[in-house]
Amino acid sequence: VDLQPFNTMAIRARAAHYARVGNIDELQEALAFARRQRLPILPLGGGSNIVLTGDYPGLVLHIDLRGLTVEEGVRGALVSAAAGENWHQLVMHTVERKLGGLENLALIPGRVGAAPIQNIGAYGVELRDTFEDLTAVHIASGELHDFSKADCHFAYRDSVFKGDARDQYIITRVRMRLPASWQPRADYPALQQYLQEHQIDVGALTPARVAEAVIAVRRSKLPAPEDIPNAGSFFKNPLVDESVYQTLKQSYPELVAYPAGERWKLAAGWLIDQAGWRGHRIDNVGVHDRQALVLVNPGRGTGAEVTHLATEIADDIRAKFGVQLEPEPRYYP
Ligand code: EPU
Repeated sequence: VDLQPFNTMAIRARAAHYARVGNIDELQEALAFARRQRLPILPLGGGSNIVLTGDYPGLVLHIDLRGLTVEEGVRGALVSAAAGENWHQLVMHTVERKLGGLENLALIPGRVGAAPIQNIGAYGVELRDTFEDLTAVHIASGELHDFSKADCHFAYRDSVFKGDARDQYIITRVRMRLPASWQPRADYPALQQYLQEHQIDVGALTPARVAEAVIAVRRSKLPAPEDIPNAGSFFKNPLVDESVYQTLKQSYPELVAYPAGERWKLAAGWLIDQAGWRGHRIDNVGVHDRQALVLVNPGRGTGAEVTHLATEIADDIRAKFGVQLEPEPRYYP
């Protein structure tokens, strides 16, 4: 099976085995098949956070589990979504019901099941802020396990599913609790700016209006994968110690950084932009011209071309700023 339609970077690669699963039974059957054949498994949601570096020798599992329920109660609304639901559609569904909590996460590509793996976040909000719990299938045994919020070890673009539990579970359902009393989160600079330009008073904000602002800001900077293949931010914003931050700030007073506990989170997009990479193209691949943190693949280049560009950028940023960039999407195989 050609995986090009299944990854938003539009990299051409082949999977030795492919299965689409629409319910838990089909998923467990597919896992049993993989166990018998000793095949590694690549669970695929929207394919918006992966880089295919070559053909995949195992089983690509297209997780197409559907179902979405919203229960409103005194403790807020409990939203339960199957892993194959589209994330943005889920957000818009809650916003249309006037439920707040997920609106800052509008337009993030991908499916629900991928959201907890990297604790998706945008505009001052992360999944963990409303996360309740999730259900996942244990790949080795086929059993269903529940993970509480504490079990998930959420951190910035990180969870237990990238650490101790990596490659051991397939998330099948995610539950979020949206607060009964909603407060807008509109302090992120780009949102502030949008609200000022459109003369929208913070007091008049609704979840729908915040979603509208988020969508407008995202559209102005981030390329739609349908138009220009990409995987969102290609690097995480690096966390550095106070001393590193101070030294850099001395040399670059314009440095963009946010306090993160005892440390500082540097805007990797700013570093890459400053180093002159924004809009730079090498053959089929390049750096987006409106957001240097996004690598794009307009010429449908190979995974090797993408990773080569990423390495060149990371090497350059290390040489110029002494900071190590880590990729955000996962490389397969
Ligand atoms: N900047 C530049 N030049 C650039 C890009 C950015 O100077 O080419 C500056 C901006 O002006 C701004 C700062 O860097 O002052 C940060 O940029 P931006 O607000 O666009 O956000 P980001 O830090 O680059 C992060 C997330 C995005 C998320 C936005 C909004 C990561 C790795 N990325 O990007 O998430 O949408 O904040 O919250 O944390 C993703 O994960 O795929 C993603 C798109």
